Amino acid sequence: MLVRLNVNGGWREAEVWPGASLLSMLRDDLGLWGTKNACEQGECGSCSVWLDGELVCSCLVLAAQADGRHVETIESLSHDGVLHPVQEAFLEAGAVQCGFCTPGFEVAVADLLRRDPHPSEETVREALSGNLCRCTGYEKILDAVRLAADRMDQVTP
Ligand code: FES
Ligand code: FES
Repeated sequence: MLVRLNVNGGWREAEVWPGASLLSMLRDDLGLWGTKNACEQGECGSCSVWLDGELVCSCLVLAAQADGRHVETIESLSHDGVLHPVQEAFLEAGAVQCGFCTPGFEVAVADLLRRDPHPSEETVREALSGNLCRCTGYEKILDAVRLAADRMDQVTP
């Protein structure tokens, strides 16, 4: 079936199997490999994207369900080689190790800071509870969230 969706500001389309996930369409048909496939069961958050502005696990959404809708992926965060403050903060805080989970974390953190620019520690932990990292103790990721919130606070009037 033909699925047409707006990805990161541009309309894209592909012929997909009716049971194909949005994750597989993004990666296999549209070449957007930043969104990672780790569990395909909605357990790890590595496939997180925005669908019409709402954070979803793209492995749990059928590509067909996204037809005609707007999707934003990790690739939408940087522009012309300039990283988003959340991405800069992850690098600076040393929160990236194998990096498999990193796109999902960064999308989740960017989503959180859009909604709550000054989240409490508890709110951050809750917001990231759907994202699993097998490499770190999460402390550097939490440092990165604090750093990103501070930086974004300085540039937001
Ligand atoms: S790959 Fe979608 S939640 Fe893990
Ligand atoms: S950095 Fe390795 S799973 Fe997160």
